[in-house]
Amino acid sequence: MSSFTVEADRFQTPTPDHLEAGRVVIAVVDGEITGVERAGTEAARALAEASADHRVLGDNQVLTPGFIDLHLHAPQWQQNGTALDLPLDEWLFTYTFPLEASFADRAVAEAVYPDLVATLLGHGTTTAAYLSSVHDEATAILAETCVAQGQRAFVGRVAMDHPTGTPDFYRDHDAVSGIDASRRSITDIAAIDAGRGLVRPIITPRFAPACTDEMLAGLGRLAEETGTLVQTHCSESDWEHNYAFERFGTSDTEALDAFGLLREHTLLAHANHVRPSDIDLIAERGAVIAHCPISNAYFANAVLPLPDALARGARVGLATDIGAGVRVGVFQQIHDAVTFSRIRQDGVDARKDPDARGVPDAAIDTVTGFWLATAGAAEAAGLPVGLLEPGRRFDAVVFDLDAPGGVIRHLALDDEARRFEKLVRLAGPHDIAEVWVDGVSVHRR
Ligand code: GUN
Ligand code: FE
Repeated sequence: MSSFTVEADRFQTPTPDHLEAGRVVIAVVDGEITGVERAGTEAARALAEASADHRVLGDNQVLTPGFIDLHLHAPQWQQNGTALDLPLDEWLFTYTFPLEASFADRAVAEAVYPDLVATLLGHGTTTAAYLSSVHDEATAILAETCVAQGQRAFVGRVAMDHPTGTPDFYRDHDAVSGIDASRRSITDIAAIDAGRGLVRPIITPRFAPACTDEMLAGLGRLAEETGTLVQTHCSESDWEHNYAFERFGTSDTEALDAFGLLREHTLLAHANHVRPSDIDLIAERGAVIAHCPISNAYFANAVLPLPDALARGARVGLATDIGAGVRVGVFQQIHDAVTFSRIRQDGVDARKDPDARGVPDAAIDTVTGFWLATAGAAEAAGLPVGLLEPGRRFDAVVFDLDAPGGVIRHLALDDEARRFEKLVRLAGPHDIAEVWVDGVSVHRR
């Protein structure tokens, strides 16, 4: 049994509009948080005194829940930061499918995945929902890497068989073999995790344009039969949104539902163009919008109507969408989500009248953004993390607010709300001193 206590200034957001700040003592036993007490109280002193391993963080250090990236493409890591000049459909065929195809060679996966996972941990990403490639071996290497480095993850072997929506050099041979490989990956990943509960499989039809009806229906049945989570892309761009109406006569969301893929905790990347009725269906099914602010700026042709999605009761979390997302840590995309929501509210065309330029009440603040990357995302994905409170697993990040090379200044002038805002807007990986997943220290600067 491993147990310790830690005293620290904690920031967390139990709801989209509530920041909780203050010094606490947290007790952790075998990765689970078993007690949290306000520092300075008798109960906190008792907790610390009973601990054989009590750690005290400094005044300019803060402890936050770990950050959850609800959607990213592991085999796109090498092109992150590049290749953003084409629209989505051309981007896939020109850059992305050829790159992902190179993961047929296990040596490529062995060279790329350990660096990706280590880099994400160093940015505070304690949980990642990965799309892998179509390859069994590379997918297993990704899952093994997450286990070896101690990152919580969903790992999805990508299924894609459509004869025109995929290139002949990178696709499943047919629906049957794609469904079989997806089924195999569920047992393979469960074996790699070996009961730790850290790395889980996730059924991953790439998106409707890349999958035949037979594939989509077969994966819907596989999800129902095995109870495995599902992830896919949904109504990302004008092109993808309109494609669904042309092919199915329904929206992308309704088509996914008809194929049995819109399930509780299904992760829908982007969903920028969903109609109000689609959001209601997503909410009814308990599915999730994985909001990818930077990727959307390049590929979505619009900004997600985020407050509307939340108001309608849909689950929403943040994601990077690496390699379309550019910025590596989902923590750093909190600020981007806030910024793009402000741009949506004000509008972009200065030649238009201010009243006709934007969308009223579209902006979110840093507290909501932080919630989307922690407690909101945890609830969305059905994971017992996202808050540092009893009963949750100890996934946490230690920030050093006066780290060398950092740009956070004048903290003595600030109250807790302003310290929080500075953290969210200004902190980078150089400010992260330590990262914990499941009670284990997985990264130290
Ligand atoms: N839609 C289908 N595949 C992809 C992908 O790799 N990235 C993005 N952004 N959208 C997709
Ligand atoms: Fe994506």
